[in-house]
Amino acid sequence: MTSITNKNHTKVILVGDGAVGSSFAYAMALQGTANELGIVDIAKDKTTGDALDIADATPYTYPKAVYSADYNDTKDADIVVITAGAPQKPGETRLDLVNKNLNILKSIVEPIVAAGFNGIFVVAANPVDILTYGTLKLSGFPKERVIGSGTSLDSARLRKFVAQELQVDPRSIHGYMLGEHGDSEFAAWSHTTIGGLTIAELQQSHPQLTNDKLVEINERVVKAAYEIINLKGATFYGVGTALARICKALLSDENTVLPLSVYMEGQYGLNDLYIGSPAVVNRNGVREILEVPLSSEEQHKMQQSAAQLKHIANEGFE
Ligand code: 2OP
Repeated sequence: MTSITNKNHTKVILVGDGAVGSSFAYAMALQGTANELGIVDIAKDKTTGDALDIADATPYTYPKAVYSADYNDTKDADIVVITAGAPQKPGETRLDLVNKNLNILKSIVEPIVAAGFNGIFVVAANPVDILTYGTLKLSGFPKERVIGSGTSLDSARLRKFVAQELQVDPRSIHGYMLGEHGDSEFAAWSHTTIGGLTIAELQQSHPQLTNDKLVEINERVVKAAYEIINLKGATFYGVGTALARICKALLSDENTVLPLSVYMEGQYGLNDLYIGSPAVVNRNGVREILEVPLSSEEQHKMQQSAAQLKHIANEGFE
């Protein structure tokens, strides 16, 4: 593709055209997230086919160039989204996956940096918090421009389940899953609000929202991916749509608050790791991390989640 000099023109390169990548590409087309989308994968027929297929949708959605790309196309891109990575197989440990995906990540990030990419990395491959940290280290980019999808999907699941319970539009629910995008994440109930009311206040008028129900919702969110994987082998529409939303917030300079995997420097008493927390994002990446003042029980869960991530990272990066 020829390079585009119009600074209002927005360009995203997707690396990894599996189920998550192609769902993201499709969600981007429907949401009008960027003017240009290049798709990189070793499966060239798949990227060419997906580009043609998604471009067929653009007359009914937004004008957009969609094409099969290579790493050189990243040099003038605003965002590189990384979804490439091996999925966890039955019997495989998390650490096996970390080592395998760190090697894949290295083979992706190095040529992108060498191509002159100078935008924002958005990482979605799992384990996302570890691979986002890996991207920071491999790229040498400033922490503001290396972001993981973190608990964006999990927080959407939380809002969905609360919405179903209360029969309220999920967009009227503000709440976050914090911590690892994985088994040690938790709902920050102390700061979940519906129309400005805290959960404790809402429980007065909605007795069905018992503390047991909150525990059940938290569990359902943590297990949501397993539930879907058991039913259809993988999850992709939810994360694909969350990724398109993240890219839109970045490209449109929205200063939107999203729960993402971000680099900790003292927040929650944590240092030198990526973990899920709300953050304000704009055209420059992460503007600011919003540290949620947690209850002591929640703070304990955050520390446990961080310890879990540090343990995996230490073994993966040794
Ligand atoms: C999900 O949470 C597996 O990370 C993927 O759906």
